[in-house]
Amino acid sequence: MTPYGTVSEESETPEASGDRSRSGFATMEATVNVNGVVTDGDQAVVSVFDHGFLYGDGVYETLRTYNRQPFLLDRHLARLRASADRLALEVPPTDADLETRIRETMRGVNPGGEVTVRMVVTRGVGELNYDPAACPQPTIVIIARPHSQIPDTLLRDGISVVVASVLRNHPRSVDPSIKSNNLLNNVLAMHEAIRQGAYEAILLNHRGELAECSQSNLFAVRDGVVVTPPLDAGLLEGVTRNFLFEVGVDIGVPVREAVLRPADLEQVDELFITSTTREVIPVVRVGTRPVGSGRPGPIASRLLTRFRDRARTLTRAPVAG
Ligand code: PDD
Repeated sequence: MTPYGTVSEESETPEASGDRSRSGFATMEATVNVNGVVTDGDQAVVSVFDHGFLYGDGVYETLRTYNRQPFLLDRHLARLRASADRLALEVPPTDADLETRIRETMRGVNPGGEVTVRMVVTRGVGELNYDPAACPQPTIVIIARPHSQIPDTLLRDGISVVVASVLRNHPRSVDPSIKSNNLLNNVLAMHEAIRQGAYEAILLNHRGELAECSQSNLFAVRDGVVVTPPLDAGLLEGVTRNFLFEVGVDIGVPVREAVLRPADLEQVDELFITSTTREVIPVVRVGTRPVGSGRPGPIASRLLTRFRDRARTLTRAPVAG
């Protein structure tokens, strides 16, 4: 742990991790669905000949529940299919089937609490070559785990980030708009953050503009206006990012796309990151420089409050009658 409480994107806390096996790997509390078969996490098996394992050939989504209901599931499934399409990867189950699988997998996980769900679709098992025909069937994995709430201390004190030396993929390389399992670039950026005791890493694009963070989108506040890099900067179109445009309308705060450069970080009043598991977290330091006043700002806080209200309302069961 760093002073800023570095946690994994799916925020494994010591409490959430179970026994340590001989390899030192914490068997996490999880229920897993592999191609329709639900087991405990430590029983779930995928072949070493799976092209997801061999080549990172696959896509994924991370979603979470509020009121134990998958939040914005339709948007996550739409993005999963869009990502898969870009790889010419078929996802045969219908959305309704996938939803049923998710609900079956999360049943019994963290009773009474919230759940984080990771869906992974890979090319499947096949000969060791890059021919898609080598893999007749995709592998579909759903991992359901207790959701680890972002600690309130992070919201109160904010986090620090660094600007990574590794660049976000060029859109003509593995396009960042594809939520792919091919995450080494993000992993390397995050290693830089961890080495410097920071919580996240900002990645620049090939033009030197700010793109996003290793596992989250980036927003800045200037003179009461919230800005986030445009899709053209080469980034993942975050479900939370898009939802925040709507939350902004709700509370009368303009949220827009704008090109941001590293020098802008010295001019902004607030900075924050967004993602499904992190919601909205204020950034108070970039490297050694404070952001704005060096304290979490009011606009990020208002957006988070409204965001949570909306999330809870949208997942509340309709009153019968
Ligand atoms: N990651 N950008 C990147 C590179 C991401 O990996 C993520 C999310 C986001 C935010 O997207 P969303 O708001 O849809 O969660 C932006 C997920 C949470 C993950 O890697 O598990």
